[in-house]
Amino acid sequence: MHLGRAQTADNKTHVVVVTADAGFEQSIRSTFSASQQIDMHVLSADLAAVEDKVDPEGATVILIDLNTGRAEEMQALERLMLRIGNWPPVIVVAQSFDAQAARTLLQMRVADFLVKPVPPIELVRTCARVVKPVATDQAEAEIYTFLPAVGGAGVTTLAIQTALLLLNSGQKRRASTCLVDLNFQHGACADYLDLEPRLDLSEIEPRPERLDRQLLEVMTTVHASGLAVVAAPNRPAEMRSFDPDVVTRLLDLVSSNFDNVVIDMPRTWFSWTDSVLLGSNRLFIVSEMTVPSLKHTKQLVAAIRERMPEGPQPQVIVNRFEERLFVPGVKKADIEQALGKDFTAAIPNFYRLVREAIDRGVPLEEIKPGNKITRELKKLIMPQPAKAAAKAAAESKPLNFSLAR
Ligand SMILES: Nc1ncnc2c1ncn2[C@@H]1O[C@H](COP(=O)(O)OP(=O)(O)OP(=O)(O)O)[C@@H](O)[C@H]1O
Ligand SMILES: [Mg+2]
Repeated sequence: MHLGRAQTADNKTHVVVVTADAGFEQSIRSTFSASQQIDMHVLSADLAAVEDKVDPEGATVILIDLNTGRAEEMQALERLMLRIGNWPPVIVVAQSFDAQAARTLLQMRVADFLVKPVPPIELVRTCARVVKPVATDQAEAEIYTFLPAVGGAGVTTLAIQTALLLLNSGQKRRASTCLVDLNFQHGACADYLDLEPRLDLSEIEPRPERLDRQLLEVMTTVHASGLAVVAAPNRPAEMRSFDPDVVTRLLDLVSSNFDNVVIDMPRTWFSWTDSVLLGSNRLFIVSEMTVPSLKHTKQLVAAIRERMPEGPQPQVIVNRFEERLFVPGVKKADIEQALGKDFTAAIPNFYRLVREAIDRGVPLEEIKPGNKITRELKKLIMPQPAKAAAKAAAESKPLNFSLAR
């Protein structure tokens, strides 16, 4: 697990600086050399030229002087942000920002950005602020797994919308979120989001240990919202399973680089299914309002409990929920009776809205703010405020940015 830390082993603050501006470099050097506690490593070039030399390992904060008007500089930053994951924080300094550049930087999860000329005290304050660990940096990734009880129940739809909600749930900054499509045979996440799937499992399989942060970055696609998506191209005619080690390695790596991980699971039980479920923090079983699907759901919940008594509690979501009075069919009371306390949420049937979201590859919230589907999903995933505050208080630690004191 890659933990966010304000302090490094030698108790120093390590600042990595990328700048091609000699004047700016000089001003930073004189600002930071005032403290013995600060160790600085400067790469005197444009980011695109030294991107590979930026080493996040052991760095407390990375400061990048960027020409936001140049596409190759923005692309180099995007790749770097993916490689870095959620720690250390990155601050961008630029001559100017337009609204579009600022938005793009936010989506890349840059911790802060400053416009030149930057007064030294402002720079130090910003560094001190961004290296303060936020609650989520200290915790392991929260893993949300969606498992179908029947085909076509809406697993992919709900997994995507949950991931988009989690992405925007961070209080101080965006919570980094990755959607992983483990439905290798009929994956639809990339299509629903209109992205190119880049995960190539056959390249990883011969040597799973090769899969590192850099390779993961190559195999990840970033949606316009900032959501990272790990999905493989569909191979409809291929009947094969992958070594459990490959899947476990992939998930370990993803969870050490993101705050939230959302998994779209296939209906078939593979050799790696147990370990994915056991590693999940929340396990949602997606079902429908028909007698057979409720029956399947009951069987599936019982089987999961039996296989993994120590695993996460399966929580059933009944999707496309609709209750019509005086019309025969399954009613809410029937679901409650069939599933008891395992019945966790009913997501309303809203086909027009869901279809438009899928066709345009956008969040439901963007099409209809405050819609009932998002509201129900929010209730399901958002922590209670009191609990979250207590967790944050317990995890906040003093920082070592001596100049700021
Ligand atoms: N709450 C909802 N209201 C209306 N339609 C929905 C809802 N959720 C999903 N759908 C529709 O149901 C269909 C199936 O959804 P989706 O592809 O998400 O299911 P799935 O469980 O992932 O299917 P598969 O078994 O093929 O992987 C889609 O056409 C989607 O638009
Ligand atoms: Mg699906």
